[in-house]
Amino acid sequence: MAVKQAASTAQSVINPEGDWFGERRVAPEQKTELVLDVFHSVARKYDLMNDLMSAGYHRLWKDRLIRMIRPRKNWAYLDVAGGTGDIAFRLHEATDGKAPITVCDINASMLKVGEARAIDRGILHNLDWVEGNAEKLPFPDNSFDVYTIAFGLRNVTRIDNALKEAARVLKPGGRFFCLEFSHVDNPALKNAYALYSDKVIPKIGKMVAGDAESYQYLIESIRKFPRRNILLQRLKLAGFRAARVEKLSFGLVAVHEARK
Ligand SMILES: C[S@@+](CC[C@H](N)C(=O)[O-])C[C@H]1O[C@@H](n2cnc3c(N)ncnc32)[C@H](O)[C@@H]1O
Repeated sequence: MAVKQAASTAQSVINPEGDWFGERRVAPEQKTELVLDVFHSVARKYDLMNDLMSAGYHRLWKDRLIRMIRPRKNWAYLDVAGGTGDIAFRLHEATDGKAPITVCDINASMLKVGEARAIDRGILHNLDWVEGNAEKLPFPDNSFDVYTIAFGLRNVTRIDNALKEAARVLKPGGRFFCLEFSHVDNPALKNAYALYSDKVIPKIGKMVAGDAESYQYLIESIRKFPRRNILLQRLKLAGFRAARVEKLSFGLVAVHEARK
């Protein structure tokens, strides 16, 4: 019994998010399945909901991420948890369609929407869509110059496995970028944001996507995501160096950047 307790304590220290689906305690394998269900359910309305929930701000945050990358045409890019392609399309545009970009996501429904959007935009070359788990990427070691993950890491069951995989697939000197919701420090703003998250977002989710529960999970998962300084430490533990973080919109969102 004592051993079992010790093991479970160790696991929650090493992998504090993996035991949670929003505010619900679940087994790690169950979390992966539940997250899959969420994104199967929201895929078709995902882009519209992003605009509504963030009042279009997600576009500015994604644009900022691309400026931080300063993309070059001769680099190879991997966008993990790339979903419906927002980051990949920006990278494609920033490199005049010359750079090879791979989108990898665990969810076939999200990828299907992304591929349809790419066809609508006339993007037929240099963009691959691959189904795969961030924790076990289906790519060889040292393959990419840039790894991005936008609003994806908080959905991954074992974040540290995903960070180690990021380090594995990057070339030496390659760069890691994580754009993710973070934590607002200012108490007044924090309260206003909590109110908006609890009262407004699930209602919009219900009205527009007919699915309050999935949006409830998305909000709860933001609260469970590691603090900025903790994520910096975990990047170092995964083998990255020169880890730094930039806060956007008063800390509502942050970009963590690091180098292999
Ligand atoms: C909030 S969406 C973000 C999509 C896109 N990056 C964006 O910024 O619009 C989160 C994505 O993470 C994907 N995801 C969740 N867990 C994953 C995992 N373990 N491996 C790869 N993708 C995952 C989901 O399927 C979903 O497409």
